[in-house]
Amino acid sequence: MKKTQEYIQEHKQRFVGELLEILRIPSISADSSYKGDVEKMAFDLADKLKEAGAENVEVCRTDGHPIVYGEKIIDKNLPTVLVYGHYDVQPADPLELWDSPPFDPVIKKTEIHPEGAIFARGACDDKGQLYMHVKAFEAMMKTGELPCNVKFMVEGEEEVGSVNLTTFVKENKERLKADIILVSDTGMLANDTPSITTGLRGLSYVEVEVTGPNRDLHSGLYGGCVTNPLNILAKMIATLHDDKKKITIPGFYDKVEELSKEEREEMAKAPFSKEDYCKALDIEDVYGEEGYTTLERGSIRPSLDVNGMWGGYTGEGAKTVIPSKAYAKISMRLVPNQNSEEITKLFTEYFQSLAPKGIRVKVTPHHGGEPSVTPINTIGYKAASKAYEATFGKKPIPLRSGGSIPIVAMFEKELGLKTILMGFGLDSDAIHSPNEHFGLFNYFKGIETIPYFYSNFKELSND
Ligand code: BES
Ligand code: MN
Ligand code: MN
Repeated sequence: MKKTQEYIQEHKQRFVGELLEILRIPSISADSSYKGDVEKMAFDLADKLKEAGAENVEVCRTDGHPIVYGEKIIDKNLPTVLVYGHYDVQPADPLELWDSPPFDPVIKKTEIHPEGAIFARGACDDKGQLYMHVKAFEAMMKTGELPCNVKFMVEGEEEVGSVNLTTFVKENKERLKADIILVSDTGMLANDTPSITTGLRGLSYVEVEVTGPNRDLHSGLYGGCVTNPLNILAKMIATLHDDKKKITIPGFYDKVEELSKEEREEMAKAPFSKEDYCKALDIEDVYGEEGYTTLERGSIRPSLDVNGMWGGYTGEGAKTVIPSKAYAKISMRLVPNQNSEEITKLFTEYFQSLAPKGIRVKVTPHHGGEPSVTPINTIGYKAASKAYEATFGKKPIPLRSGGSIPIVAMFEKELGLKTILMGFGLDSDAIHSPNEHFGLFNYFKGIETIPYFYSNFKELSND
C-alpha cells in the first residue's frame, strides 16, 4: 500500500477540489423540484467512478431516483468488497441559519477542525464520506495495488427511506455478490479517538392527526366548552413517557435486548464527558431514561421523540382560534429484537386509546427500518480495526450508534452479508443541520484508511 499512500498525498488538493464540485449539486431527494439535480449528481458520480477506473458503470433506473453501479473485478478467486453509499442529501432549510450558502462550499477552520472543514449540505452525510471511497479506489487502481474486487452501489434515496433499493437488491443478487459490505456513513468519537460503529438503531416513524370540532372555532365563543385538538395532542404526547422517562406504550420494551453487565462495563470505557457534551449543546443537563448513561440512552436503549408539531394559527401576531385539527410527527428509535412494524402497531393502538371522547385520531406510518449489530470477532471487523491502527496509531473503540441506516439490516436479509461501518464524521459535524461540515483531516484519514481495509481483508480472507 506504499504507492497508494504516496499517490494520496500527491493528489490531496485535487481530491478536495473534486469534492467541492459535487457538493455544489443540490441533490435533495425529498424535494421533487430538485429531481434534475439528483439526476445530474447520479451521472456525475458515474463519470467519477469511470475516471477512477471502474468498469460496467451504469446509472440504473428505479421508480424513484437512480442507483449508480460500478465495479472492478480483477480476479474471480479474490474476495469482493461491496461499497455502499448515498449521493442524496437532506433539505437545507432553515436557510437563514447557514453562515454560508449550503450548496456553495467553503473551507473554514473551527476549534475541532484546526486544519479546516468543508461547510456544505452533504459534506459529511454522505457525499464527503462516499467520495473518500471513490478516491481510495482511484489511488489503488492508478498504482496497481488494488488487492480485491470492488463493487460500488450508490443510491439517491437514503434520506427518504431507500424505498427502491430493496427491489434493486432483490433483482440484482448475482451482480451484487460479495464477501463484505463496506459503508462510510456514520461517525467516530473524536479525531484522536477513532471508533468503529458496531450497531445502528431501527426506526418507526409516524404522523398523527387529531381532529376535534368540524371547523376552526372562535376561542372566545367556544373556549372552555369543547376539546381543543392541540391541547389534547400535547397531553397525549406527554403521556408517552412516565416519570422515569420510560416509554409507556404497553409491550414497547418486551423484546428489547438487555446487555450484560460485562457489555455495559465495556461500553462505559468509551471516553465521554457530560460537561463537554452539555457545553457543546448549550444545555444545563442531560435528560433521559433512568438507570442508563447518556451513551447507553443514545445507542442500546430505544427512544421516542416528537419531530414536529403543528396546527391552528402559527403566523405573525395573534389569532384567537381553536383549531379543528392538530398534527405531529413522531419517531421511535429501536434497538435489537424490536421490529419496526410491530412497534408502529403498538404505538397506533396505544395512541388511539389515549384520545378522549370527541377526538378522532389518525396514525399514518412513514418509512421505517430495522436495527442492526456488527459482531467484532469477524475478519471484516478485524480488517477495519487494523486499518485504523495503521493510520491513527491507535486501536479503534467498537461503539454502537444511535442513528439508523435501515439498509444494513436489509442487506443482511437479502444478501446474507454483514456490513462494516467505517465512518469518519464527528457528532459535531452538524449533519442534517445548518452549517453541516466535514473536516479535511477526516476526509484525508478516510481516504488513507480505506486501502488498508482492502489489503487487510484480502490477507485475513486467505488465513
Ligand atoms: N448517515 C445517516 C445515519 C447515521 C449518521 C448513523 C450518523 C450513525 C451516525 C443517515 O443518512 C440518516 O440520516 N439516516 C436517517 C434514517 C433514514 C431512514 C432517513 C436517520 O438516522 O435519521
Ligand atoms: Mn447518511
Ligand atoms: Mn442522513
